[in-house]
Amino acid sequence: MSADQEVRFPFPVPSGWFAVAWSDELAPGAVRSLRYFARDLVLFRSEDGAAHVLDAHCPHLGAHLGGGRVEGDTIVCPFHAWRWDGRGACREIPYAKRIPPNARMRAWPVVEHSGALFVWYDASGAPPTFELPPHPELSDRGWVPVERHEFTIATCAQEVAENAHDPAHFTAVHGVPALPDSKSEFEGPRLHSENRGKFETPRGPVDTSIRATSYGLGCGHLRTRGLADMAQLLLQTPIDAEHLHVRWQFATPRAVDGSPQPLGIAFAREFVRQFGQDIPIWESKRYLARPVLCDGDGAIAGFRRWAGQFYGTPS
Ligand code: FES
Ligand SMILES: [Fe+2]
Repeated sequence: MSADQEVRFPFPVPSGWFAVAWSDELAPGAVRSLRYFARDLVLFRSEDGAAHVLDAHCPHLGAHLGGGRVEGDTIVCPFHAWRWDGRGACREIPYAKRIPPNARMRAWPVVEHSGALFVWYDASGAPPTFELPPHPELSDRGWVPVERHEFTIATCAQEVAENAHDPAHFTAVHGVPALPDSKSEFEGPRLHSENRGKFETPRGPVDTSIRATSYGLGCGHLRTRGLADMAQLLLQTPIDAEHLHVRWQFATPRAVDGSPQPLGIAFAREFVRQFGQDIPIWESKRYLARPVLCDGDGAIAGFRRWAGQFYGTPS
């Protein structure tokens, strides 16, 4: 086997905004150890409610801050109680007169909206190159979050994202009765797509459209019309170059009595069932840089060109 055949994906961890927790998982004062982007990180929410992500290991003698505690707007290291703020500055050393000038930690940009906490990751440490807007429906009181699902998959973000631009697999893998009509539009770090097709139901196929906007490889806003009115927030976070954490939140319009729509919930579960059909293929497939494509293969080549911008160098 040649060296290039031993690597499943020729990509490093991409740059972008990636979810690291749901907002409701992190109360004020909470601390969590994270393992994402092939790095050890610590997430904490200070008492004023702001969330922060730092490299996990204290620059003093290397303790993991995940074992620490929050005090005010700082995290206290469990080893010698140095206090670090959300910008990575050392604010206090309880037994020293002077804070060393190089007592600094790497702090990662964080935004919080749409019910999730996002970190900007860039391998070279470069600041964010695009903004991540809130999900319109998941930030709207007229909508109610329903199903929430999570997966850990032995694949990378680009492979999962490519699925939406691969119309032929909908018939072969998911049993969709006809090839969907797919359109994709590339706009800098954003990718807009629309798939129209028939969705199989116990009462026969129903016309459905799924519009999606991806913000880099980490965050997708989806809106489904037809069988059920539904919104989705689909979040992909690299654990390392070959493992992915997927978070998925669905929402339906709120009925007059405040309850979600049962059809929307059923439809969400169907999406999750179909996603489960893709997983064994993703986990065992290999990325081919030069695939043999045919005229029915849609926007795969265009998608790959778009995705290449997130690796720093052309892929
Ligand atoms: S290792 Fe963190 S304070 Fe010493
Ligand atoms: Fe699929």
